Amino acid sequence: MKIPTRSFAIFGVLLIASATGLRADTELEGRMQSMKKAFKELAKSLEQPVAADQGKYLNLISQLHDAAAKARDLTPEKAEEIPADKRPDFIKAFQKQMDETVAAIDLLKKDVADSDWAGAQKQIAALKKDQKEGHSEFRSEKQ
Ligand code: HEM
Repeated sequence: MKIPTRSFAIFGVLLIASATGLRADTELEGRMQSMKKAFKELAKSLEQPVAADQGKYLNLISQLHDAAAKARDLTPEKAEEIPADKRPDFIKAFQKQMDETVAAIDLLKKDVADSDWAGAQKQIAALKKDQKEGHSEFRSEKQ
């Protein structure tokens, strides 16, 4: 039987990818990337808010909220490194932290809707803190 050269090439790539630990991004990582995109633009814009851009900010907040709410129901990759008996607690703690993040996004939405720009900046700072703490606790060191 003749095996096309291309098959060897594909097989080779797969072999190298698995040997070097390359993997497809997790769904959670994809949601987090969406959070980053919206959050980065928001944080920058809200440093010098423009009243006329309120609708644009609310739209970004809605994207951030949507991505965070979906991320909340996914499982961090780090769960695989946690002993099976402790895993449910780890996942519960992750969900609790994400619920707090979603609540902070709701407060941000209220502040922006009320044109309370100082309040909005406080929520941006709170979200940066959530991000830092969330990553140190729930993100695998391998990531
Ligand atoms: C505004 C808030 C946040 C932003 C913008 C954000 C952004 C990101 C980004 C860009 C990544 C992928 C790249 C990387 O690993 O650095 C990531 C990964 C991750 N983030 Fe966040 N994050 C936020 C908040 C949080 C919070 C609150 C938690 C935990 C409760 C969290 C948990 C994780 C985990 C576990 C991963 C690794 C993905 C996986 O396990 O598959 N993040 N985040």
